[in-house]
Amino acid sequence: MIQHITVIGSGTMGNGIAHVFAQNGFTVHMVDIRQDALDRAMATIAKNMDRQVAKGSLSEADKAASLARIIPTTRLEDGVKGADLVVEAATENVDIKLQLFRELDHLAPEHCVLASNTSSISITRIASVTKRQDKVVGMHFMNPVPVMKLVEVIAGFNTSSAVTDSILELSRKIGKVPALANDYPGFVANRILMPMINEAICSLHEGVAGVEEIDTIMKLGMAHPMGPLQLADFIGLDVCLAILEVLHKGFGNPKYAPNALLVNMVTAGNHGVKSGKGFYDYSHGGKELVVADNFRKS
Ligand code: CAA
Repeated sequence: MIQHITVIGSGTMGNGIAHVFAQNGFTVHMVDIRQDALDRAMATIAKNMDRQVAKGSLSEADKAASLARIIPTTRLEDGVKGADLVVEAATENVDIKLQLFRELDHLAPEHCVLASNTSSISITRIASVTKRQDKVVGMHFMNPVPVMKLVEVIAGFNTSSAVTDSILELSRKIGKVPALANDYPGFVANRILMPMINEAICSLHEGVAGVEEIDTIMKLGMAHPMGPLQLADFIGLDVCLAILEVLHKGFGNPKYAPNALLVNMVTAGNHGVKSGKGFYDYSHGGKELVVADNFRKS
């Protein structure tokens, strides 16, 4: 039975995952290499819990108890030694993840399940560097984690069905709706989402419409909470590009080739919300000031 959970990484996804587990009664070790990152993550979790308190879905007492269940640490070995489940949400870089999983395989108890929150790196590849391929699984949360209902659960080539079942059950226990996918490039979520975002960028690049028009059409016409260009800024344009490259390479199909405008924007450092500028400008403190229509071709 999964009781003790360790989350590796305290960035947006890591702190959101720790938040949700702690709020649902689990003790969570949150591991990061930097103490200042852990301090920021704890402040973010407290702030996000305050939103829930303000709307009455969490009491002050439950907030305090949930925060007390999160144990931040910079020492990986301390963080994982009593874990039943590790959820890795470190930087989306294949070499970093492979090295981390080698270490986790060495440090975590034998029975411990090792999950990755990767958005597109092969679970089978990650599992291949461990001696417990049957216990390595994808547990892909969506941003913002406390709000989004989905957990995409990914079965690697050798993941046992007992392990996928336990992750499906755990996801339901924390109030999420899990859906199971097999391990192919982009799994399901990003295999479908990223070509849509890429096509929105192609439409902009070809001058079919401007940023606001494309987002308005998709937001109001398809009842999406955000248009595809705003969503790309929210996810991070660098992340979108990296996922498209995984799809392009993994399938060898030109339909997944990232648009040249996306490549240029990432190269220039316009990564979306986190860098202050993407398809919109976030640098004036305000929200979504549209960058002048310099994306239009004509
Ligand atoms: N923690 C807790 N609560 C939060 C929160 C957080 N981090 N962020 C937002 N909320 C809550 C707010 O308190 C608010 O609650 P109520 O409606 O109950 O009052 C609610 O969420 C909506 O928030 P806001 O009013 O601030 O803003 P909004 O209505 O514009 O919604 C949004 C914001 C939830 C992000 C919405 O725009 C949305 O759903 N966008 C799409 C998100 C999406 O598609 N995510 C998936 C990205 S893909 C991914 O993550 C995976 C990948 O691999 C790339």
